[in-house]
Amino acid sequence: MSDFSFTCLSRGVAQTEQIGAQLGALLQSGDVLCLVGDLGAGKTAFARGVAAGWRSITPVTSPTFVLIHEHRRAQDAARLHHIDAYRLESLEDAVLLGLEDIFASQSAVIIEWADRIVPLLPSDYLWIALAHVPEDDQARLLTFSAHGARSAALLTALRKKLQT
Ligand SMILES: Nc1ncnc2c1ncn2[C@@H]1O[C@H](COP(=O)(O)OP(=O)(O)O)[C@@H](O)[C@H]1O
Ligand SMILES: [Mg+2]
Repeated sequence: MSDFSFTCLSRGVAQTEQIGAQLGALLQSGDVLCLVGDLGAGKTAFARGVAAGWRSITPVTSPTFVLIHEHRRAQDAARLHHIDAYRLESLEDAVLLGLEDIFASQSAVIIEWADRIVPLLPSDYLWIALAHVPEDDQARLLTFSAHGARSAALLTALRKKLQT
């Protein structure tokens, strides 16, 4: 069960990136963002914004063969891992890839297709579902659901920023 959730509308890819960036600026070590939604829903666009807001010095690419990208930034030693679980065939694959080690580390994490690795998720995570909107191909509905105290605090801070 989610602690609380809210939904917002993005009217274009730039706005999805901007919302991601607002969240990225709030990210702390250990935070886990779970991105779910169909192909083309905007998960990678959102992740690009998160990395920019977090001030990554490395750009987000859609991980095609590389399933995990590690991002760094200039101002400190923090790490941000961007994972794409789309091609994982089993939970075993995810374990072999070292996902549990990444969750146990101090890194912040973004996971596309997180619905494929739910049993491996830590207890606290922010679930972000992106969905197409009928009859508007530039719009997406973003539904954020907090699971745990930290993600609830993160979501509260994000909502405050989006309202101002
Ligand atoms: N509001 C929107 N938010 C995100 N992407 C959008 C939006 N409107 C159109 N798009 C387009 O949808 C596609 C999303 O691609 P991508 O972020 O790679 O999706 P995913 O990672 O979920 O498969 C891009 O081509 C983007 O330009
Ligand atoms: Mg993607």
